[in-house]
Amino acid sequence: MSGRVEGKVAFITGAARGQGRSHAVRLAEEGADIIAVDLLEDIATAPYPLATKEDLDETVRQVEALGRRIVARQADVRVLAELQAAVDQGVAELGKLDIVVAQAGILTMGSNTPQAFLDVVQVNLLGVINACTAAAAHLGPGASIILTGSTAALLAGSVDITGAGGLGYAHSKRHVARFGHDLARVYAEQQIRVNVIHPTNVDTGMMDNDFMYHAFRPDLENPTREDMIPSLETKSPMGVPWLSPHDVSEAVLYFASDAARWVTGQQLKLDGGQLLPIGNAGVPA
Ligand SMILES: NC(=O)c1ccc[n+]([C@@H]2O[C@H](COP(=O)([O-])OP(=O)(O)OC[C@H]3O[C@@H](n4cnc5c(N)ncnc54)[C@H](O)[C@@H]3O)[C@@H](O)[C@H]2O)c1
Repeated sequence: MSGRVEGKVAFITGAARGQGRSHAVRLAEEGADIIAVDLLEDIATAPYPLATKEDLDETVRQVEALGRRIVARQADVRVLAELQAAVDQGVAELGKLDIVVAQAGILTMGSNTPQAFLDVVQVNLLGVINACTAAAAHLGPGASIILTGSTAALLAGSVDITGAGGLGYAHSKRHVARFGHDLARVYAEQQIRVNVIHPTNVDTGMMDNDFMYHAFRPDLENPTREDMIPSLETKSPMGVPWLSPHDVSEAVLYFASDAARWVTGQQLKLDGGQLLPIGNAGVPA
């Protein structure tokens, strides 16, 4: 039986680990070849380590183990020329481009400086715009662009009140949401689709780190992952502390596949009910 994205080629930013790796593997399982990029170095205002070359090598290993091809490159999403070179080389090797998953991101929460605000906006917003720009000349009818926002884009009073870095994160994600909406309008006539996924907390290196343990458990001297989990659960009416990267990949796969061929401009909340409105706000009466 053929896969749900059989024969398609997907370009994924931030693919060395976390959600990006999960998307690469899930799309490969369903028959896609992959163009993968990642920064492979740290950013000073992000209070946790970013992915390494070994991480990207592991993504390559997992995709190739499925019998799919992958072109993996070091590239900084803040630098259009680096992304353009990676996409062009990937398309030259794999033949075409059908799917863009623009999802590389950082969280500079905890740094209350202008640089922390600017760094996260550069990566999370400019990086998404650059990924779409680098892909543009290669896309045709039937192509699918998927952007990763966050519930932070839709929820006032969460990370945006934690200082300049947190405000930058929420700012970047709000603008990713709007950019996705407007790009969907721009591309509709060409039958190219654009959708945005807004996950709540996800179990990746962005959440599973010492800085976050302390942020969620300031009452403990040396909090651990296990100490943080009960605090995460209280944010979700369904009692789910965080999603697995695989949960998000299932949504990416749907938007990438022809099952969603007339679905565009969506803002999908993947939030365990976190944003369910109380009363009738935003809901048909
Ligand atoms: N983890 C969460 O709780 C959560 C929740 C909602 C949304 N998100 C979003 O999901 C996306 C994926 O994050 P994740 O959870 O997999 O975290 P992650 O830290 O595991 O993965 C992010 C990846 O992006 C890469 N990256 C960072 N800056 C880059 C740059 N300038 N150029 C290229 N690559 C770069 C990192 O090296 C890393 O591999 C991000 O946009 C994030 O904001 C995460």
